[in-house]
Amino acid sequence: MNERAHGSPSGTSDADKYFLSNPAPKSLESHKKLARSFVAEHVHSLRNVVLVTSGGTTVPLENQTVRFIDNFSAGTRGATSAEYFLEAGYAVIFLHRQFSLLPYSRHYSHSTNCFLDFMTEGSDGDVIVDPDYQGKMLEVLRKYNKAKRDNQLLLLPYTSITEYLWALKETATLFRPLGSRALFYLAAAVSDFFLPKDRLSEHKIQSSAPQKPNPEAYPMLSNGLSATGQSNRLLINLDPVPKFLKSLVDGWAPEGMIVSFKLETDESLLVSKAQQALTKYQHHLVIGNLLSSRKYEVVFVTPDGGTEWIHVPTHRRTLSVSTPGFLRKQFLEDEEVRAVNGEGRVEIESMIVPQVKAMHERFIRKSQETKEVD
Ligand code: PMT
Repeated sequence: MNERAHGSPSGTSDADKYFLSNPAPKSLESHKKLARSFVAEHVHSLRNVVLVTSGGTTVPLENQTVRFIDNFSAGTRGATSAEYFLEAGYAVIFLHRQFSLLPYSRHYSHSTNCFLDFMTEGSDGDVIVDPDYQGKMLEVLRKYNKAKRDNQLLLLPYTSITEYLWALKETATLFRPLGSRALFYLAAAVSDFFLPKDRLSEHKIQSSAPQKPNPEAYPMLSNGLSATGQSNRLLINLDPVPKFLKSLVDGWAPEGMIVSFKLETDESLLVSKAQQALTKYQHHLVIGNLLSSRKYEVVFVTPDGGTEWIHVPTHRRTLSVSTPGFLRKQFLEDEEVRAVNGEGRVEIESMIVPQVKAMHERFIRKSQETKEVD
């Protein structure tokens, strides 16, 4: 591993320190076993392999966790993209937040309908799919069965930031034999701040807190008196999570193509923040999106300074980067109403994934040419 020691004068990187002080979860070994055999199979098949990360990571406030801080993400981007990668011929490891959306089942879970609403009683008293949903369900079922038959999809769950980071590190390391055929598509919403293991309270934090800070009971907290003399406040001191994109590029996956997502709420920051990420981490593509319009438009930002907006077709006529704010807001509200009413729309991931695939194919060709010259 050629990981550079960044942010630490002692020679140990911040990422190394993180893993030393936040031990691996129990599930890691079994997940590694599954990932190892999945990768081994596809090293020999002709398929390219993508690690799709999806959903938010949590930051537990207690070791026996009752409360936690969460990051926004339903898992729609990841689960939908995974389906289009599968259709495009990729083998997919889907590293996802437990109970967030999954490829294929997403069409029927987490919806405003209960799953029983898709069923009806047949003439023989048996349970059948409601004729209104049969066509769509058959289409989804066929794709799902094909992915299973071809062993194209491996689902690995995580919940906390520590579980996510261990899984990312170990899976990336297992991807190495794939060389440039490995693609990392990082759609998960990853915590920037956390409570280190050695400062976690073992038991549930009590709301009837001590009247003054008690560092033994709550070593990472100060339930102190406020300036106004009010007690029972919970003040939390969070440490920064090291920037793992750096470790991924420098050490864990030196040969793979790495695509990260950038989420912002202020449009004026989006492109510049994406460009800064590319400069800082030296990876291959940042896909920028805004919280309010993430289902309808994204921007591809590349290391050569390129920026390309992609809008779903219904958008193109009415929405562009220069659309005034009030029209944009109205458009997004109309689209949400259409989605809730079950009116079909183009999924933007059906436009993102083919473009990423084409970039990955160019990346593979270029890396093969470089190897031949060497
Ligand atoms: O699931 P949906 O509801 O459809 O929402 C999808 C989405 C909006 C969550 C998704 O499209 C998205 O934008 N995901 C990235 C959100 C995010 O975490 O952005 P960020 O700016 O905090 O991080 C940017 C990149 O830095 C990420 O690739 C992340 O892996 C990386 N990072 C973040 C934190 C950290 N400690 N280390 C990192 O390397």
